[in-house]
Amino acid sequence: MKRPVVAIDGPAGAGKSTVTRLVAATLGYVMVDTGALYRAIALAAKQAGASFDDEAAVGVLAERLASERAIELGSDENGGTRVLLAGSDVSQAIRTLEMGQGASKVSAQPRVRSALLAMQRDAGRNGGVVLEGRDIGTVVFPEAEAKFFLTASVDVRARRRFDELALKGTDADLEQVKREVEERDRRDSTRPIAPLRRADDAMVVDSSNLEVSEVVEAIVARVRAIEAALNAP
Ligand code: C5P
Repeated sequence: MKRPVVAIDGPAGAGKSTVTRLVAATLGYVMVDTGALYRAIALAAKQAGASFDDEAAVGVLAERLASERAIELGSDENGGTRVLLAGSDVSQAIRTLEMGQGASKVSAQPRVRSALLAMQRDAGRNGGVVLEGRDIGTVVFPEAEAKFFLTASVDVRARRRFDELALKGTDADLEQVKREVEERDRRDSTRPIAPLRRADDAMVVDSSNLEVSEVVEAIVARVRAIEAALNAP
């Protein structure tokens, strides 16, 4: 049976991670959280004592990590993403506000993006995979059969990020989280390479007033229809 590549793009806090995990589980597809790759590069830069803006140092680092296959994505017992950096589990360490900002800075650099491109294409080569990110439908898999652009209002997204952090016991300030979400949106959508934008053929899903289950159902229904069309005699 042929199975499509599913691309789920959208801004920070739109609910991509939760939705991607559930869509992949429902369809029996593999999930790939591409943001985790950029976060891992940011963490590696910090560990190496390099500034996120030091393009030369971060570029060399990203190319080395990619060629050594030192960033590995797997899944944890809850179906979430497990991330290994040079063999160490950094799944928690990459989920901080600092690494979100760091990922947003390193991901604007051409060398970093091209270092991670082959890895992402490899992961989706055989279909049956859900990739979530910013440029999956536009750059990584422009030919993906099923593309979605998941979004929500800034207030809703800031509130979700805030709740997520609170759940992890991180003391955050809602206004500050909102400013960070806005800053990340601005940086991600205005960068010259692979900016965050909706692919022309992506279905837009605004999750501001939808339950997670409604978003998942809408996406799964569309992917099943595409699967059926791909396998039609
Ligand atoms: O989705 P997540 O918040 O983990 O992504 C962190 C950052 O990585 C984003 O703000 C974005 O700058 C970058 N990113 C990207 N392209 C992707 C996925 C993430 O530029 N495909």
